[in-house]
This record gives sequence, C-alpha cells and structure tokens, in this order.
Amino acid sequence: MFKFTVFLIFMIFISPSISEDLSGFVECESTYTFPIKITHFAYEPELIVANRSLKLEMGGISTVTIEKGAEFVNMVYRDDILTKIHAQDFCKIWVEPSGGHCPVEPGKFYFEWNLLASSIPQIDPINTNITEFPRITIVNPSGYILACIEGSVVRVYP
Ligand SMILES: *[C@@H]1O[C@H](CO)[C@@H](O)[C@H](O)[C@H]1NC(C)=O
Ligand SMILES: *[C@@H]1O[C@H](CO)[C@@H](O)[C@H](O)[C@H]1NC(C)=O
Repeated sequence: MFKFTVFLIFMIFISPSISEDLSGFVECESTYTFPIKITHFAYEPELIVANRSLKLEMGGISTVTIEKGAEFVNMVYRDDILTKIHAQDFCKIWVEPSGGHCPVEPGKFYFEWNLLASSIPQIDPINTNITEFPRITIVNPSGYILACIEGSVVRVYP
C-alpha cells in the first residue's frame, strides 16, 4: 500500500511534465499500425530560426525493440514540394544524449535532442519566414517505418 501511494504521488508529480501533446502534429496515415506510438512531441523555441539552437522532445510507447542502426528521418515539405531530407542515427542523436542506449526495449520512452536548426545555404531562402511541413519518422535498419508524425512549423530564415 505504501509503495502504491508513493507510486501515485510520483505519477501525479511526474505526469504533467511529459504532456500528451504533439504540438499540432498528427500521426501519418498508413496502411498498417505503427509499432511505435508517439504521444508527445514538442520543440522550443516556437519560432525556429535556421542555424540557431533548437530543443526537441519526443515520447511515447513502443511495442518493438529499437535496434542499433535505426534512423531518424525527417522529410521537409514546403507547400507540397519535398525540399529537404534529414536522415540521422536515431540512437546517436536521441537515445544516447538522453542517457539511454540501443537497443531500446519495448515500453514507454522519452528522449530529448538539442541541435542547431538546419541551415542549408544552397536551398534555403534568405530573410523570409515560411511554414514548412516536416514528416518525421523512425525507421528500422530494414526500412520498416516504426513511427511517423507530421505537422507544420514556422521557420525563420534570416
Ligand atoms: C551558422 O552560424 C555560425 C555561427 O554564427 C556560422 O559561423 C556559420 O557559418 C553558420 N552556418 C550556416 C550554414 O549558416
Ligand atoms: C518573422 O517573424 C518574426 C516573429 O513573428 C518577426 O519578428 C520577423 O520580422 C519576421 N521576419 C520576416 C522576414 O517576415
């Protein structure tokens, strides 16, 4: 009983910090059910400025093991045009800096990633604010899409 009470108090204090909120993003349409359900996605600051610090948070529940070699792939659309693809090692950018390691066993997860917002002088506009549509996926080494969310963000290109 004591353990349960402590657990309850723990949950009451911990839960609000990891909100069930995707910051306006939604799960991508798919012909199958993604084995990883992302229930929390957030970024800060709200206005993302190219080549400046950006903090991302991602949490959810996984029914599969995330293997070493899994990739974080972000496809960025402007209007309906695919403009950028960022493919990075999921374990190195999300899991390890958050204090974890791969393989990540099934269950609840929460990771953070501090980065510089992408800046690609060859294709980025200058002195413009635009709305971009990132499609964010976690892909296992065989190409199996484990999770996918998409939404819109305003990006500032100074
Ligand atoms: C990013 O910012 C750094 C420091 O301000 C600068 O040296 C660098 O050229 C910038 N890179 C791009 C791609 O804009
Ligand atoms: C981009 O948005 C910010 C914040 O709303 C604003 O201060 C800035 O002037 C805008 N820049 C351009 C080029 O529209």
